[in-house]
Amino acid sequence: MAELPGVALITGAGSGKSSPPLHTLTPVHPPEQPWLNLTPGIGQAVALAFLRAGCTNLTLIDMSTPGLQKTQSLLTEINSSANITLETGNTTDASFIDRAVENLLTKHGRLDYAVNCAGVMGPYLSTIDDSIESLDHVMNVNYKGTLLCSRAEIRAMLRNEPSGAEDIPGQRGAIVHIASAYGLFGAPRVTSYCASKGAILQLTRADAVDYSPRGIRINAVCPGLISTPATFDPDKAETMKPFEEIIGKHPMGRWGRASEVADACVFLCSGKASFVQGVALPVDGGWSAAG
Ligand SMILES: NC(=O)c1ccc[n+]([C@@H]2O[C@H](COP(=O)([O-])OP(=O)(O)OC[C@H]3O[C@@H](n4cnc5c(N)ncnc54)[C@H](O)[C@@H]3O)[C@@H](O)[C@H]2O)c1
Repeated sequence: MAELPGVALITGAGSGKSSPPLHTLTPVHPPEQPWLNLTPGIGQAVALAFLRAGCTNLTLIDMSTPGLQKTQSLLTEINSSANITLETGNTTDASFIDRAVENLLTKHGRLDYAVNCAGVMGPYLSTIDDSIESLDHVMNVNYKGTLLCSRAEIRAMLRNEPSGAEDIPGQRGAIVHIASAYGLFGAPRVTSYCASKGAILQLTRADAVDYSPRGIRINAVCPGLISTPATFDPDKAETMKPFEEIIGKHPMGRWGRASEVADACVFLCSGKASFVQGVALPVDGGWSAAG
């Protein structure tokens, strides 16, 4: 029996930068961390983990068409009969998101799981140095984009009959938002990013309260520093320097893998998390525990 039978929507699944994929770069990390030269972005890793968990009906959303196509080719290597739909567009565009979810419902008739990974890092600036334009951009993509996706996903899931399955009694659907450890605590010069991720956590809690009685579980994952195309670029030592300092604050003393974040998303969407509602789950090698 598949861990995740049904239909899933994953945003930010293109995990794309125009830079070469990490596995084509010369690894600079110690051999005890060999996965670093294989890492995908978080959305791509979630898509791969969902397919491996038996979810063969996947709609993937991203701004990057080449990124989506790359993810699709990795998925079809695992399962050539997987039913994959690619939707290129911007999660801050409500009409695009509503249309993508409508297309999904026309094709599959239902939506069971959604993982909202689309996000941007933002500038490394404190409040008085940041610009209104960059503040708007970070809040728009991270908070408003997540809200618009969640809104369309909740509406779609409310059309499902409550499940009669023993492992998910009464459940209509499960949603996971990718927030950040930076949504849990403050840090120097990441104001707009911290605020946007904190907003996602409050969205998670408020929606979890509202939609519990109607059978939708809504949770968030708070990753620590994860090796993805957005963070890990061994060709650019200067860009990597602040990240290496942050790794020193992770008690486990290493980068996280995108697949480790994806595993938490599979758990939160699965029947194993049937009574888990409105949580902000750190996947951060102990960073938030250390304070
Ligand atoms: N990498 C980390 O260390 C880390 C830590 C904590 C949280 N996160 C969060 O995880 C998520 C994924 O990050 P990642 O590291 O895989 O980054 P990434 O840049 O590899 O992936 C983000 C993806 O989102 C897409 N995207 C961005 N804005 C979009 C928009 N408006 N509409 C549609 N698609 C859009 C990008 O094209 C990209 O494919 C983000 O929300 C990020 O804030 C990452």
